[in-house]
Amino acid sequence: ATPLRLGVAGLGNVGATLVSILQRDGIELTKKLGRQIVVTAVAARSRSRDRGIDISGLEWFDDPVALAKSENIDLFVELIGGEDGPAYAAVKAALEIGRPVVTANKALLAKHGVSLAKIAEESGAQLGFEAAVAGGIPVIKTLREGLGSASIARVYGIMNGTCNYILTRMGNEDISFAECLRDAQALGYAEADPTFDVEGFDTAHKLSILATLCFGYEIAPDKIQVEGISKITQADIKVAADLGYKIKLLGMALRSEDGIEQRVHPTFVPKTSAIAGVDGVMNAVALETDHVHELLLAGPGAGGPPTASSVLSDILDIARGTRVPPLGVPSQELMPYKQAPARDH
Ligand code: HSE
Repeated sequence: ATPLRLGVAGLGNVGATLVSILQRDGIELTKKLGRQIVVTAVAARSRSRDRGIDISGLEWFDDPVALAKSENIDLFVELIGGEDGPAYAAVKAALEIGRPVVTANKALLAKHGVSLAKIAEESGAQLGFEAAVAGGIPVIKTLREGLGSASIARVYGIMNGTCNYILTRMGNEDISFAECLRDAQALGYAEADPTFDVEGFDTAHKLSILATLCFGYEIAPDKIQVEGISKITQADIKVAADLGYKIKLLGMALRSEDGIEQRVHPTFVPKTSAIAGVDGVMNAVALETDHVHELLLAGPGAGGPPTASSVLSDILDIARGTRVPPLGVPSQELMPYKQAPARDH
């Protein structure tokens, strides 16, 4: 089989980890797949920055859109980040010419996911985004392929590794919020602008992607009621612990007669619950369906290796020629989306 040539835009933590995994494990992967996967071209802001990978033999693009449209690649991998700007322009350009795209960009998908899915459906291009929600957990695959005809009533979970890392450490050590956040940044968990993590917007982006897939509505993330963890103190965590609870930042979406209700906020969860045991940089997503009462998927939620491995799983699916079921672009005409008022549950 002909090699699958990747163009990777964005060489931050995830991009550099992906390139290094492919450089290190390329031969093993080729044996497994019967097809070679090679990074042939890259685009990033700085050509000279030391990332611990050798990009000297790769074709260099300053402009990600030019890379996305280049004739020398078969698949475009977008790891730039950001909801608009070059990430959006490049993904759109690739999909328009029918080229498969793999992205980890939750902000982009939360804002433009449905319109990009429509372009992909029209051109026949594949759009993989496993890494966009809950890092290394195959939650998108589960939703797209794993649940059969089960219909989902509620989805909730811990969707931001940085916040869960901070809350866990503040519960275990006498350490400040600021110090934990600095460590989360140093470990490569946090967003470039960590306000997205600690104020809950990153969770809202992921929640809106999940809610769109679960309920078939185009969800506007700016309509979600969002509260982050920046005001949580060690005293709050202590009070919760004394009462038998842990504080977790949860995102939750549920379907009711009033519409789709969605919220993101710090939540008291009983210490004995499964989700309370999900500590550190781990994420967990609970899916309540009519067949399986509740499915809880837990695993590493942020950081270079887990995120890059989810990107790679999408790339491998495309290399194998696996066609995942179409996204089923939500139809607003069918059932208008209504943001239900937030209530206590
Ligand atoms: N900053 C995100 C987090 C990265 O901490 O979960 C993974 O999306």
